[in-house]
Amino acid sequence: MRASVVCGLGGYVPERLVTNDDLSERLDTTDAWIHSRTGIRARRMISSGAATSDLAVEAGHRALKSADEAAVDVVVLATTTPDRPCPATAPEVAARLGVGTVPAFDVAAVCSGFLYALATAAGLIASGTADRALVIAAEAFTTIIDPQDRSTAVIFGDGAGAVVLRVGDPAEPGALGPMVLGSDGDHSDLIEVPAGGSRQRASGRPAAPGEQYFQMRGRDTYRHAVERMTAASRQAVERAGWTTAQVDRLAAHQANARILEAVAERLGVPAERQLSNIAYMGNTGGASIPLLLADTAASGRLRAGHRVLLTAFGGGLAWGAATLSWPRLGPVTDPRTP
Ligand code: UT7
Repeated sequence: MRASVVCGLGGYVPERLVTNDDLSERLDTTDAWIHSRTGIRARRMISSGAATSDLAVEAGHRALKSADEAAVDVVVLATTTPDRPCPATAPEVAARLGVGTVPAFDVAAVCSGFLYALATAAGLIASGTADRALVIAAEAFTTIIDPQDRSTAVIFGDGAGAVVLRVGDPAEPGALGPMVLGSDGDHSDLIEVPAGGSRQRASGRPAAPGEQYFQMRGRDTYRHAVERMTAASRQAVERAGWTTAQVDRLAAHQANARILEAVAERLGVPAERQLSNIAYMGNTGGASIPLLLADTAASGRLRAGHRVLLTAFGGGLAWGAATLSWPRLGPVTDPRTP
């Protein structure tokens, strides 16, 4: 069986730091509210003139550098914030990375984008279409947030993460276990950007004020996030032949610190085994898992041999979970390094 083995990792965040106090200056909110409800103290934000591809290229470059070999046969980019509605952002990213005229395309699964992109790339490797894949998740999420909406502006940040996959053996360290993915479009309105797509354009009516921005029904989303990530995690662990007690590191989408705590508690994963960087990165959508992996691999919190459980949830609704034993990788750069 042609398994997909993680052999490179990189992360990158823009330099501009926005603290809760910075936001409190222009929004009716406080550091105390934001931190107690979300666990967030600060987030990163792209500078004027930058775009998702800039973050993706930097994270991709770092992942290729940490890999055993820089060549790849395909580039899959997960993003909610493509540089333009058309064409996909991945071909430009591939060209700028100098990986040649390989297939490159975007995957849209919002905060679960990385896991969906990972599953897509693993499928291309399993079928023999590719031997090596670069999977990037990059989000300039702050570009779709209404700067005046205190319920979302305090949560989201920008960043990117990437992994290199190579064909290998399912028993190797770094081999992806069976993945669990799911969606429920009956609740597509919980997280949405209402305008800018074919439905609004075909209606012939201009977007109403605010409709071009990301909107989220926080409370309902919260409930679904805990339920779906817990259930998907249990399934992935079971399919891998593990028990949740054997999970050394839980790398969950950094949605909200309270969601992470609830998922870890339901799974019976002790707090010290949970990886988290939401306090200084915020919620970076689909980028949060690979960014978290790069961050904690660089700091030594995530080490070779750890049994790692990944899980994500977000708009769609879409969710997923995956397992792997963490491999020995080349040096991983701290994503905050400029
Ligand atoms: O990443 C994709 C998936 N996303 C998620 O998983 C996010 C899930 N949801 C959440 O993280 C939380 O629901 C939020 C952090 C978004 C909100 O926390 P909450 O505890 O669910 O608050 P709420 O939306 O129920 O609002 C409670 C109150 C409201 O005031 P009233 O109606 O009780 O008077 C809000 O207007 O808090 C108010 N509020 C704020 N107050 C100060 C909302 N945002 C703020 C704010 N500062 N920034």
